[in-house]
Amino acid sequence: MSEPKALILGIESSCDETAAAVVAGGTTILSNIVASQFDLHRPFGGVVPEVAARAHCECITALVDEALATAGVRGEQLSAISVVNRPGLVGALLVGIAAAKSLALAWDKPLIGIDHILGHVYAPALAGLSRYPHVSLIVSGGHTSLYRVTSPTDIATLGQTCDDAAGEAFDKVAKMLGLGFPGGPALAAAALPVVGEGRNLFSHIVTSSRAHAGAADNPLDFSFSGLKTAVYYHLRGTTRGHGELRTITPLEREQVAASFEEAACLIMAEKALAACRREGIDTLTISGGVACNKRLREIVTMRAARERKPVTVFFPPPSLCTDNAAMSAGLAYHYYAKGQFSELDLDADSTPKRAKAV
Ligand code: KG4
Ligand code: ZN
Repeated sequence: MSEPKALILGIESSCDETAAAVVAGGTTILSNIVASQFDLHRPFGGVVPEVAARAHCECITALVDEALATAGVRGEQLSAISVVNRPGLVGALLVGIAAAKSLALAWDKPLIGIDHILGHVYAPALAGLSRYPHVSLIVSGGHTSLYRVTSPTDIATLGQTCDDAAGEAFDKVAKMLGLGFPGGPALAAAALPVVGEGRNLFSHIVTSSRAHAGAADNPLDFSFSGLKTAVYYHLRGTTRGHGELRTITPLEREQVAASFEEAACLIMAEKALAACRREGIDTLTISGGVACNKRLREIVTMRAARERKPVTVFFPPPSLCTDNAAMSAGLAYHYYAKGQFSELDLDADSTPKRAKAV
């Protein structure tokens, strides 16, 4: 008789989503519950850390109950409890960590602390990807990095952003354009009707983004601040004061959004494929919230097929690209299998832990 699959409860509260999930054997998602806080943060135009932490407190217990009930699993049946303990907003992380520790203690289960970004790297495995090594591009609201992934737990950094994360740039440009929060999906929606040359209308934006991206020592590093500033000056002109943006027509707003989206997606595509070329790897995965972007998916897929050594691109479905707890519960299985557990004094850490560099 085959061994029953290890059942892991995952808890996630690193930013503005409270999430709980149960994953069996590292890849079978039995439940994946996410409570988004968008409505709470929308009036402020961005995530307010104190508001996020309070909202996590209010719903985390109910979310864990729902994740277990949906999975049809009782706490006593779990093999381990995983929780994201870095990087993120400290107050928000502490809520998930406190919940996970309490449950681990009450049910006498091992605790496994997980790095949120490495959870994003693992997300494609939950959607069926089993090819290693692969190159992983993580593009989210807080992070933009390229990794060489040799196994779920053997991950080396190839490049990272020198300034803004990709999602942060989408969010800030959307704010400049008055498109609302969260900015990424709003900007993508505004850009959608614009086709052909209208997407390159502001060619200086594309040019400046190329010039700035990776100008530093490592050509696989990213920079989005030049592109964001180009949009800002386009909207401000040279005669207005700081923050005084001119009024634009709805058509121009769409075209600025589309031109920004085009440039940002080109940067991501070029860097990710350059990483594949440099590493001699023919499989690329892209995850994190920005990986939901349809134009990014189109551009990367098109360019990957044109490579001299074609690259197969794998995007998880949008529900596994944005923040969720299944990705950390899935990754935790691989630490569980190796007996790598955390102590009950596991702490929150706001900073990303750099995976070993190559
Ligand atoms: O991975 P995620 O849910 O949270 C973080 O770990 O940061 O990513 C959220 C980010 C936000 O910046 C959001 O604006 C962006 O992903 N995003 C998008 C799209 N959907 C979400 N950006 C561009 N196009 C989208 N369709
Ligand atoms: Zn994330």
